[in-house]
Amino acid sequence: MFKDTPSRREFCANAGQAFTLVSLASLGLQGCGGSSTSPSDAPQLPTIASSIVSGTISLTIDASSPLNAVGGAALVQASGQSFLVSQTSAGAFTALMAICTHEGCVVSGFQSSQYVCPCHGSTYATSGSVIHGPAVQSLKSFTTKFANNVLAITVA
Ligand code: FES
Repeated sequence: MFKDTPSRREFCANAGQAFTLVSLASLGLQGCGGSSTSPSDAPQLPTIASSIVSGTISLTIDASSPLNAVGGAALVQASGQSFLVSQTSAGAFTALMAICTHEGCVVSGFQSSQYVCPCHGSTYATSGSVIHGPAVQSLKSFTTKFANNVLAITVA
């Protein structure tokens, strides 16, 4: 006799009664309601509030800065704009426009040394190049200069 297979929606509805999403995740199942371009759950970048003065963002890099260690990264919010900044090797920093080239969301996640867009999951290297789409264009990058514990990012 033919046995009915529950649809994905029915499965999700039923699963919600019996399992939490955490238990589903622990079984390696994709969360219900997701899709191949589902929003990311990557950890959020720490944020730094700054401002643009004469076309430059100046950040003090001290022990309290999330950018103090190699591999550190932050979302810098300056004068209403958002930038992705990372220390990629000792004393060398990259600074990128944080606006995703796919549909314009602010890229705010960071996982495995990659920036992650929360909207459809595009990932970018700290150089700005696309690692995974749907985005196809790199993030715009800016010149950086580091001296005397101050990182200067030229944005205009
Ligand atoms: S806006 Fe779609 S992946 Fe970023």
